[in-house]
Amino acid sequence: MCGIVGYTGPKEAYPIVITGLKRLEYRGYDSTGVALLNNGLKVYKKKGRVADLEESILGKDLHAHTGIGHTRWATHGEPSDTNAHPHVSTSGKLAMIHNGIIENYAQLKKELTNKGYTFKSETDTEVLLNFIEEIRKNNQCDLEEAVRVALKRVSGAYVILLVDEDNPDTIIAARKGSPLVIGVGKGEHFLGSDASPMLEYTKEVVYVNDYELAIVRPDELILKNLGNEKITPFVTKLDMELAAIEKGGYDHFMLKEIFEQPSTIHDCLRGRLDALAGTITMSGVENNIEHFKKAPRIIIIACGTSWHAGLVAEYIIEELCRIPVEVEYASEFRYRNPVINKGDIIIAISQSGETADTLVAIEKAKEQGAIIFGIVNVVGSSIARLSNGGAYTHAGMEIGVASTKAFTGQLAVLTMVALKIAREKGTISEERYRNLLLELQDVPEKVEALLKNADEIRLIAEKYKDAKDALFLGRGYNFPIALEGALKLKEISYIHAEGYPAAEMKHGPIALVDENLPVVFVATKDSYHEKIVSNIQEIKARKGMVIAIATEGDETIPGLADDVFFVPPADEIIAPMLSCIPLQLLSYYMGVAKGVDVDKPRNLAKSVTVE
Ligand code: M6R
Repeated sequence: MCGIVGYTGPKEAYPIVITGLKRLEYRGYDSTGVALLNNGLKVYKKKGRVADLEESILGKDLHAHTGIGHTRWATHGEPSDTNAHPHVSTSGKLAMIHNGIIENYAQLKKELTNKGYTFKSETDTEVLLNFIEEIRKNNQCDLEEAVRVALKRVSGAYVILLVDEDNPDTIIAARKGSPLVIGVGKGEHFLGSDASPMLEYTKEVVYVNDYELAIVRPDELILKNLGNEKITPFVTKLDMELAAIEKGGYDHFMLKEIFEQPSTIHDCLRGRLDALAGTITMSGVENNIEHFKKAPRIIIIACGTSWHAGLVAEYIIEELCRIPVEVEYASEFRYRNPVINKGDIIIAISQSGETADTLVAIEKAKEQGAIIFGIVNVVGSSIARLSNGGAYTHAGMEIGVASTKAFTGQLAVLTMVALKIAREKGTISEERYRNLLLELQDVPEKVEALLKNADEIRLIAEKYKDAKDALFLGRGYNFPIALEGALKLKEISYIHAEGYPAAEMKHGPIALVDENLPVVFVATKDSYHEKIVSNIQEIKARKGMVIAIATEGDETIPGLADDVFFVPPADEIIAPMLSCIPLQLLSYYMGVAKGVDVDKPRNLAKSVTVE
């Protein structure tokens, strides 16, 4: 969480930093701040969004050629002007921004307090900054050396950007566990949590690795490890355009991203799936195919929406590949003592590729000899780099805090992975394999067709927007979609929602049903259809209000449900990629109807880079 930006070069730094912060606001939006170097150090910071800061410093002298900026998701200390970054050191000469958590900050704070230091904020960042300053003073060394010494004492995760008023054209940056991208321009450098702040200026970027330190000047980028050895920066070409981070005429990024799904799923399948030839090309699977074929077990680790994609995959892989699958919350897996046997494969799923719990869980599994297959959206992200193999979802940049197009991309990739392994293992008939390839190929078109009726969902959302609670039920492949629908509704509309397997309803949740409770059934035509129709009847018998996602042509459900949204027919393995979309729309329209800032719902951040 938290977004960081930096610039040093001949241009005005402030407009670059402030625009960059607006693009990174999805990473946290509790407070904002900038530090500018021009005849000394100037720091402006404020509780609230980037726009609040911008307004509050109108008319100030913001001229500078070096600057850093921060948008915060609060960890240590409530959102306030004082706790906002940048923090300034006791001498008043250094300013620092930080993304991550310094776990041993209390110990460091005690040491500094004993030496007479006092602190203005409650943050771990101010402690680390003064710790660096103390080392510089005590060891009589330069700032770079002080940072190196300090970071060797630090446990936790960080990206820091540090400026010194005595060296006004230099930014010192370091990372461990949180992302840092450096854009290389002509006589200028850009820094960011991702590449969005630098998109219009350069396509050449360096992804900084853990335990690396960067000394960044307008015409110089020096990369070193914590042992003070130089590292040659590896420059990669960015494959992203400015349009990818603009709303493109939509009211919100979330809506834009929902409507992008025909093309993002198409991009995900493109170059991989050839239904006519009957082939799926995925080098990440091909390179590990013998491991997959022999795998005694697959363990899927992920968080949130990505975890739901993992649950769908559990059904698909077990059905098609006959490999036992376990799906684990990364946050639980990392603290358990999990049994990982020789040959087990870990599939790690993450949109951002930076989720702290997933990252640590991968590291833990790797230590125990597991092979890691990453399914990630953000190219070059930490999880992508930590994996032994994998496949990108190619959904493009997802900015709305609610994950939508990344989810359908994950489902598409996981389905292809399962089909490929099944074919290699001989656990799928040629006919079923070919049919599923054709079905997959048709998904973008079917998504496009159902999106044409989005307005029907808007009307349903307006009808139920005042509900206090909601229940989402599904069976089989659609059970994880019910969980996903409930998660979306919670985060985007703040309506309390629960997802359950429809059959579990009788074991407790049915007690909630009355004439005020909307119950959303994900009830597309599949092998569980008759059973779920019975479940709908059970809810109606108790006066619950039923909203059903059904398959076009279904004649039973319209006679039972209060409201129905139809999706095109599809094989039950493919259906989740369709049935999830009306639920994304339902939460979006309910959020909008309730006046929620759907792209930035309260308390959330897009990438959860702290545990
Ligand atoms: O980037 P990741 O896929 O690893 O993120 C995992 C979750 O934080 C994420 O899916 C979260 O649950 C979303 N806000 C859901 O919409």
